[in-house]
Amino acid sequence: MPERAIEEYKIAEEPYYLPVDNEIGLFEAAHAAHLPVILKGPTGCGKTRFVEHMAWRLERPLITVACHEDLSSTDLVGRFLIEGEETVWHDGPLTSAVRHGAICYLDEVVEARKDTVVIIHPLTDHRRRLPIEKRGTILEAPSDFMLVVSYNPGYQSILKDLKQSTRQERERHRHQDEGCGQHPSRSESIGECAADEPRHQRRGRVGSDDRRS
Ligand SMILES: Nc1ncnc2c1ncn2[C@@H]1O[C@H](COP(=O)(O)OP(=O)(O)OP(=O)(O)O)[C@@H](O)[C@H]1O
Ligand SMILES: [Mg+2]
Repeated sequence: MPERAIEEYKIAEEPYYLPVDNEIGLFEAAHAAHLPVILKGPTGCGKTRFVEHMAWRLERPLITVACHEDLSSTDLVGRFLIEGEETVWHDGPLTSAVRHGAICYLDEVVEARKDTVVIIHPLTDHRRRLPIEKRGTILEAPSDFMLVVSYNPGYQSILKDLKQSTRQERERHRHQDEGCGQHPSRSESIGECAADEPRHQRRGRVGSDDRRS
């Protein structure tokens, strides 16, 4: 992606966002500490709006990828395409984001194919690097790069395959977890907590645990 094009991913106007708790401070702390963030909550709770607002606040371009079951690591990282007589490399959205120190937002990441998880793993721990296998290179993420993924516990495709009783049990936990009438939007580090961990233990942790893996 040429330098000019990345400018188009910058958010010029402040997207209106009403904070629910101290999620803005948490997100800023995660960005400063080079930690990824996972946003978990049901549809409409403000995950996308929050990321847009934070990208504007941190003055970073925001590259959003809506994940789906056919999304592969090649789609994220990039591919060689034939142009006339030659093959030309085209960065995928994740590579572009790493290259330009943008915020990469993988929306509904559990929907993506399993090979994408393998690709994002070295970006989410202390290594912060993206292996580009097809080119035989490794891209080091600059300090401004940040990976944000969203996850809606009610819409995992894996639930389609669960037994009815298991699914009902998970739904029960979800409703207990979210509490009656409370706004469910919140930010957490990737891989930080189990679904049935009590809410008061989860809040406000910007994950150090996942750095160990
Ligand atoms: N905290 C908030 N401050 C301001 N607006 C909000 C907030 N939360 C939700 N909204 C409003 O709700 C709408 C839906 O929010 P958003 O698209 O961010 O939800 P989402 O969590 O990304 O949903 P989905 O999982 O379907 O993508 C926004 O367009 C915005 O108008
Ligand atoms: Mg959204």
